[in-house]
Amino acid sequence: MSAIPDGARDDGRVVEARPVRVWDLPTRLFHWVLAVCVVGSVVTAKIGGNAAAWHFRLGYVVFALLMFRLVWGFVGGRWSRFGTFVRGPGATWRYLRGEHAPDEWVDVGHNPLGALSVVALLGLLAAQVATGLVADDEIANTGPLNRFVSGTVASAATSWHKTLGQYGLITLVALHIGAIVFYLRRKKNDLLRPMLHGDKLLPAATPPSRDDVATRAAAVALIAGCAALVTYIVGLGG
Ligand code: HEM
Repeated sequence: MSAIPDGARDDGRVVEARPVRVWDLPTRLFHWVLAVCVVGSVVTAKIGGNAAAWHFRLGYVVFALLMFRLVWGFVGGRWSRFGTFVRGPGATWRYLRGEHAPDEWVDVGHNPLGALSVVALLGLLAAQVATGLVADDEIANTGPLNRFVSGTVASAATSWHKTLGQYGLITLVALHIGAIVFYLRRKKNDLLRPMLHGDKLLPAATPPSRDDVATRAAAVALIAGCAALVTYIVGLGG
């Protein structure tokens, strides 16, 4: 279902549409800061030399953001919660065949296919952070937690970080952006603007995500806690 314009159909019925808050501000900020950090960490890795210090710093920010998103997936706005968009294979298959029930709300937040790419992106990013923390390029750079793992583990982690992890991530991001362009061009469904201002035009009965001052204050406290935890973990390496 694309964003439904005024007086458009929903399952054959004419429904009243209105802007509904789908992406709360913390989710939107999470997304755009993550995108900048991921691009920045690829660029700084390619530059090497002194830029490696920034590669590390950006990696730590990604670590804190992932921790934040993990918790936000349980306590954040309705449509940011994993429970509202992560589906099993059966539901995804029904969605692909267009057999989902109207009350499944499959297209409000991430649709089941989009959800797969979200989970894959977050999972691969987590693997990239974890392997980076213990990696050792045997030239100049060693991850802060390298001393806690054996040489074999460090070398497997380094190899993943520099090859499968890196290229897998670049491929997923390219697919992610390609899918957004596809939805815009072919399906006339603009996913980008809601990720900027938060709202989608949807049937009036669609429940919104909570996005008030209290929610935003909770997000600030949460990200501060995540940053402190990352600082502590990174500091364990001495
Ligand atoms: C390194 C770059 C990027 C990464 C790692 C990334 C990652 C993600 C993740 C994890 C989500 C899920 C958000 C959530 O539920 O918290 C998402 C959603 C989204 N991203 Fe990105 N993103 C990147 C770049 C971009 C760019 C450049 C655009 C714009 C062209 C974009 C547009 C969107 C949109 C529109 C959504 C929502 C999709 C939907 O409604 O299903 N992203 N992205």
